[in-house]
Amino acid sequence: MPDPVIVVTRRWPAPVEEELRRRFPQVRLSVEDAPLGLTGLRAALAEADVVLPTVCDRLPAELFVGELRTRFLGNFGVGYDHIDIEAAAKAGIVVTNTPRVLTDTTADTAMTLLLMVARRAGEGEREVRSGWWTGWRPTHLMGADVTGKTLGILGMGRIGAAVARRAHFGFGMPVVYYDTLPSVPSHGVPAARRLATIEEVLAVADFVSLHLPGGGENTHLIDAFRLARMKPAAFLINSARGDIVDTDALVTALRSGTIAGAGLDVYPGEPAVPLALRELDNAVLLPHLGSATLETRTAMGMLVLDNLQDFLEGREPSCRVA
Ligand code: DGY
Repeated sequence: MPDPVIVVTRRWPAPVEEELRRRFPQVRLSVEDAPLGLTGLRAALAEADVVLPTVCDRLPAELFVGELRTRFLGNFGVGYDHIDIEAAAKAGIVVTNTPRVLTDTTADTAMTLLLMVARRAGEGEREVRSGWWTGWRPTHLMGADVTGKTLGILGMGRIGAAVARRAHFGFGMPVVYYDTLPSVPSHGVPAARRLATIEEVLAVADFVSLHLPGGGENTHLIDAFRLARMKPAAFLINSARGDIVDTDALVTALRSGTIAGAGLDVYPGEPAVPLALRELDNAVLLPHLGSATLETRTAMGMLVLDNLQDFLEGREPSCRVA
């Protein structure tokens, strides 16, 4: 394909944008750094050979009908529940994602949430910044210990396993997990114990960390019923996808003491976060920072480029998902 027209939907780290400019004279980099929306994405699919979207770009089936010029969608991100990949494949479009390079960084974010919510770090930070801190006292902002507590992982893929390793080797936490795959690689967590059902994990875990894809049958996997299966002193950590948790049920559970707290990096309908959640002190809320380090975001961009280069040169892209 001679000099493909490439649309990049958002700003990318500078080294990757430079590389895009160097390799592709017809690249259209984002200027506004705002989501294109359905109209902008429809135009991109009609005009560009290659579209490089990311998590905030919704690409439902309706976008993949009619005359499309695009042949390659290189998603900047590992999760691709925002793209109807079956519809894309039917339209003859190859779709890739960016696994592996963000595993450790995302696992660090899950541990950040876990530690913050257990130790009430968000509350403490708000107190200091507001000037309301009155000094040390024995009963001030008492949290929960992490060391030696049981971690329950739902979804023992690469990121789940990286969290398990951190918890097990760093904090002496016994790890239990549930996964739908009949056998998952041990991923270097020899001590992790597989349980037969989600409910069994919820019943024994002091911290439950979600590492599943969003959408489909995982939507509202954690609902009122399952929240009620957790220990009252337990914490829920979600650095995967917002729709896995029923937010209304979570707010009720956090208000009523069904569970002790939640650490969230993701939300359904981002960037909107319900006021009811924002008002709760036992919820730690981050703005989808999972993979947000310079090194990792640069590596993600470079991986998109590797996949694109493979596609353009007739090789199978290593991270093809459709
Ligand atoms: C991903 O890659 O899917 C992440 O959620 C983006 O940080």
